[in-house]
Amino acid sequence: MKHYIKHHPWHIVEEGFDPHLNRVSESLFSIGNGRMGQRANFEETYSGEMHQGTYVAGVYYPDKTRVGWWKNGYPEYFAKVLNAPSWIGIHIKIAGKELDLATAKIENFRRVLDMKQGLLHRSFTATLPGGKKVAVDAKRFCSMADGEIGAIRYEVTPLNFSAKASIRLTVDADVVNKDSNYDEKFWEPVSEEAKSGRAIVTAQTKKTFFHVCTGMTYSISSGGKQDKVKPKVSKKPQYADNVVEVSLRKGTATTIEKYAVVLSSENHPKAKLTAVAAKKLEKALATGFDKLFANHVAVWSHKWDECDISIEGDIAAQQGIRFNIFQLMQTYTGEDERLNIGPKGFTGEKYGGSTYWDTEAYCLPFYLGTSDPKVARNLLVYRYKHLPKAIENARKLGFTEGAAFYPFVTMNGEECHNEWEITFEEIHRTSAMAYAMRDYIDYTGDRDYLVSHGLEVLIGISRFWTQRVNWSKEKNSYVILGVTGPNEYENNVNNNWYTNYLAAWTLRFTLESLDYVRKKDHKKYEALAKKLNFHDARETGTWKEIVAKMYYGKDEKRGILLQQDGFLDKELLTVNDLKPADRPINQKWSWDRILRSCFIKQADVLQGLYLFEQDFDQESIRRNFDFYEPMTVHESSLSPCVHAILASKLGYEAKAYEMYLRTARLDLDDYNNDTEDGCHITSMAGTWLSVVKGFGGMRVIDGMLHFHPFIPKQWNSYSFRLEFRGRVIKIQVTKDHVKTILEHGEPVEIVVNGSKKQLSTSSKG
Ligand code: BGC
Repeated sequence: MKHYIKHHPWHIVEEGFDPHLNRVSESLFSIGNGRMGQRANFEETYSGEMHQGTYVAGVYYPDKTRVGWWKNGYPEYFAKVLNAPSWIGIHIKIAGKELDLATAKIENFRRVLDMKQGLLHRSFTATLPGGKKVAVDAKRFCSMADGEIGAIRYEVTPLNFSAKASIRLTVDADVVNKDSNYDEKFWEPVSEEAKSGRAIVTAQTKKTFFHVCTGMTYSISSGGKQDKVKPKVSKKPQYADNVVEVSLRKGTATTIEKYAVVLSSENHPKAKLTAVAAKKLEKALATGFDKLFANHVAVWSHKWDECDISIEGDIAAQQGIRFNIFQLMQTYTGEDERLNIGPKGFTGEKYGGSTYWDTEAYCLPFYLGTSDPKVARNLLVYRYKHLPKAIENARKLGFTEGAAFYPFVTMNGEECHNEWEITFEEIHRTSAMAYAMRDYIDYTGDRDYLVSHGLEVLIGISRFWTQRVNWSKEKNSYVILGVTGPNEYENNVNNNWYTNYLAAWTLRFTLESLDYVRKKDHKKYEALAKKLNFHDARETGTWKEIVAKMYYGKDEKRGILLQQDGFLDKELLTVNDLKPADRPINQKWSWDRILRSCFIKQADVLQGLYLFEQDFDQESIRRNFDFYEPMTVHESSLSPCVHAILASKLGYEAKAYEMYLRTARLDLDDYNNDTEDGCHITSMAGTWLSVVKGFGGMRVIDGMLHFHPFIPKQWNSYSFRLEFRGRVIKIQVTKDHVKTILEHGEPVEIVVNGSKKQLSTSSKG
């Protein structure tokens, strides 16, 4: 754990420069805009420890798989999000000496991430070897108003001298991935242009042939007056710059405004990239930093109006929740159905930047509650577009007749994970796509999504389950053998309750959805049946049979659901029996010891009870929670939030709060000592869920919003907003009352603590 981030309701603040924390801060202070993002690297030269990281959404490299023992069915590659060309470089030499925070004496260092405005702000004074002292103030943002634009305002003021300085403004595509299987470089040059006042570099990814065109232009002024500069320009493969000589005057700020464009061939024809970049640069320069920034802030302000959570009385919790919301909002904006949410977003390379079941199980409800429905819909359409690849993926593993097996990890729909216990066995993920559809429909009421896209996906997934179950004579039931449930600390187990339940539920949901589509648009149903070669009576007959005869392990004596057939043979200990030196067990114990132990990495049976709580009574949920919670080590960041929600439901308020704290400041306090690799973006959605579904008790039942709130005793009040069917509803909870306000939209009826309440924009709440 680290506690160096200063508490503030809207800012993430670091005071004083500690080079050992630099990589952690580079992750925490990352900025992005859905199209691109970057770690909080310095603009000027830094020769100390750092992880240079700039990322462009949708641009990846299929890095050849590296495994010791090849298994048939493994994918050929593990996709990597690409560390992309950097546009931030502003390298300053004063009287021949480089400004470098690793060699200068640094005072008054302050790095602030202003989450309200989406601004990275850094200031410090540096004494260069030889004694020249400068004050620097640097501001940077990736525009939310135009996802292809970024800008920097960099001010340097000599404090004890006047001298000549050179400023080298760069675009650099000679970058390497930290995450690379064979230490290969993933980019190759296409073109470079260096002209007076601008530089543009286009680079191409190997194998995938994405082109990324990165350009920059700038203006320089001293004491508020524009300098006429005559730069020296230079270029080499994958690099271009302008070097400007300026006279720094003691006490006078020299201001560099650098504008960047980042274009990808995913959005522009390759042949036009340089021309489009030049035009956009010209426009950005003419618009100027202040106006570009104002446009950017306006977008943030609108977003915060719809998604802010405010907490009174606990500033650490307040900062934590806003940080989580901020990171999610700048990672995925939902405008482009080809994009998704990598577990590290734009803050690092771990997990390859690919899409996991995290999106459907955790992120989708966050975007449903905070954004226009088209944002969540695009996440569904992303998987719809990957359906042919999911069918191909299933075919590779021996499934037939249009069975769809969605990958555990993907960039373009193909599986790119290669650990057998996950790739082949963690099969519950394919149904996360079905569950997400139900979540979306329940929340938005847009059932017709089933007609246009959903049913086709559901039929594919249901066909997979039909072939994946087998009949057990012994149990006189359908069973699912050889799986890994959400708890990755058990592999190759039989009848993981969560997997069996989800499989049968998917079949039921497909049957209901079929009925709906048949009635709603018979023509569409017939066309789909033809396209999919769907044998309605035969296939639905099998599904009904599986639903009726699916096996679910139970322990009648304890009144609990069995995580898997052999679970009770384990030595049943609790986390309290573990010595602190044993934790985290995934770093301290051998893998076989973990597998044999009862310790649970993340919510598993409890994940199922969270998703399907309406199917179980409160006492069953309690018995299962009381049994499984004490064995859960929460060594996945996705786990505590589910426990927080269930604990809230069960009235275990202290437990709920403990679990909430664990998720909310996971990165800010570097709980798992791994923030330097990037932030845990997908689990941040879980933090939001802990407040809204946990403390706020929000549920959608039959198209109506229900709340059953409580307030953690550490807080004075909290409030959150929900975007719901064209309305913005604010819920405020204090120690003695719950206030509900319709901030925007048509009147609506909601249910608070079991009582119906009519809301309109004129009512008082
Ligand atoms: C979790 C998975 C998750 C992945 C990416 C793993 O540690 O066990 O459930 O999908 O991280 O976040």
